[in-house]
Amino acid sequence: MRRILIVLTLLCFPHLSAQAQHIGIPHLEKHGTATQLVVDGKPFLILGGEINNSSSSNLDYIRPAWGRLAAIPLNTVLTPLSWELIEPREGQFDFTLVDGLIQDARRNNLHLVFLLLASWKNGMSSYVPLWVKKDTQRFPRVILKDGNPIEVLSPLGRESMAADAHAFAALMRHIREVDGDAHTVLMMQVENEVGVLGDSRDRSPAANKAFDAPVPKELMTYLWQHHDTLIPEFRKVWETAGAKPTGTWQEVFGHGVEVDEIFMAWNYGRYIQSVTAAGKAEYPIPMYVNTWLGGWPHPHAFPSGAPLPEVMDVWRAAGTAIDVFSPDIYETDFANWCDRYNRSGNPLFIPEALGGLTGEANVFYAIGAHEAIGFSPFGVDSFIDQERPIEIDAANDLGKSYAVLQSLAPVILEHEGRGEMAGFVLDKDHPQTSVELNGYLLDVKLDHVFETNSQHAFGLIIATGPDEFLGAGTGFSVSFRLKSAGRTQVGLGYVDEGAFVGGAWVPGRRLNGDEDDQGRAWRFIEKRIHVEKAVVYRYE
Ligand code: DGJ
Repeated sequence: MRRILIVLTLLCFPHLSAQAQHIGIPHLEKHGTATQLVVDGKPFLILGGEINNSSSSNLDYIRPAWGRLAAIPLNTVLTPLSWELIEPREGQFDFTLVDGLIQDARRNNLHLVFLLLASWKNGMSSYVPLWVKKDTQRFPRVILKDGNPIEVLSPLGRESMAADAHAFAALMRHIREVDGDAHTVLMMQVENEVGVLGDSRDRSPAANKAFDAPVPKELMTYLWQHHDTLIPEFRKVWETAGAKPTGTWQEVFGHGVEVDEIFMAWNYGRYIQSVTAAGKAEYPIPMYVNTWLGGWPHPHAFPSGAPLPEVMDVWRAAGTAIDVFSPDIYETDFANWCDRYNRSGNPLFIPEALGGLTGEANVFYAIGAHEAIGFSPFGVDSFIDQERPIEIDAANDLGKSYAVLQSLAPVILEHEGRGEMAGFVLDKDHPQTSVELNGYLLDVKLDHVFETNSQHAFGLIIATGPDEFLGAGTGFSVSFRLKSAGRTQVGLGYVDEGAFVGGAWVPGRRLNGDEDDQGRAWRFIEKRIHVEKAVVYRYE
């Protein structure tokens, strides 16, 4: 019906076509302080998983996996596409895989985020078509300190950028044609974990010439215009070098290791912002770039120039097409990386992470504490070949979290952006935290039931009413205080376990006695991830 209406509208009012085609397409929208993904007019929480790099290069290989991915339950699969298969000969596009993947996802009620593995994948350029690989004159390579080229396209290669942008535009035009109504494809990842490996910067002739030239005026203007809100680590480098208004890269950013990374961030940023803009001109769904994490002072063990937090401003100065800079978080300090990425207006979307027991906990933190657009562990189809040494979640721990989060998604999304939600992961080294919600202070602790073993606790809490809280997770207990000190105390009115069924709250047991420490604490002492509602009251 909706489709018929759109077609009728287009026939009667052809000038509306571009706008009308975009009705309901996936886009990002502010909801209070949060940024949400909105699909068909409704906010959408991505409970995703990324399949292995080569799995989607053959429809028959991945076809048996879709049903199992949906049963995890994922709602979105992050699915690679490669430039070499989309444009095997220059100018000749083949979208058979794209169409097949979209159809198979739809059959399983799954959404897709496509990753276009094009000029770079994990720093290297192995996914470019052979016609690009062979033509090193037209598509120049990065040259390292030793003077040798490597199999990495230089981000200063203008023809490389144009060719990549041409392919991406063709892909997005095609996705609009086949999915502009159904919206199976939610977002696009442009490239994958970019940056120079093995050296701090490209030393090709074009790169050396640009490095000795003045810093482009677009970047200098950005620095001045955003002086007060620049990421502090980045501003410090500029200020330490004298906060100069113009000069060469080393005059403006000094002679430390940072300058090379800032220079590379500018060049990757210019290239990928242009590629992204070309795709968005065809079909403007949200687009992000993912990052292999490292940090200053860097040992050159991670790709230099990637959108790490310290150079995010440089990428922003380079263009405005990229909506989100995303971390691939395999590190142990998950919370720290979430904090560092979810600042200066960057929403959190985690396209790669660990699954299993780690992922089942971290997803609660990402959504509860940072109102993440989505979370997606890597290698979720590894069940196809259990021998693969990549994250395998045999007990489907991630799925247990996802099932609960999916049932809570409408409540989560409704309360985002208003300071009404908290998320946490606790363990023996971090046994407690305090959060403020609706004027109450909530002391969240590892429950003593779990103190004797090594199991971690995790969860999220939403203030759903002035004196009402909804919680989900396992292994923690909560006591309530008022923010202002005084005689008034906070007591537990009552606690119910329960579940959302078809969007409606269905209470289970009334939890009292041992289950709420005789009224002293709101406890989540079931080993399974579960949901409880607590109502509190004040007394003197
Ligand atoms: C990070 C990359 O982005 C992925 O494509 C994949 O190569 C994983 N590493 C493997 O752990």
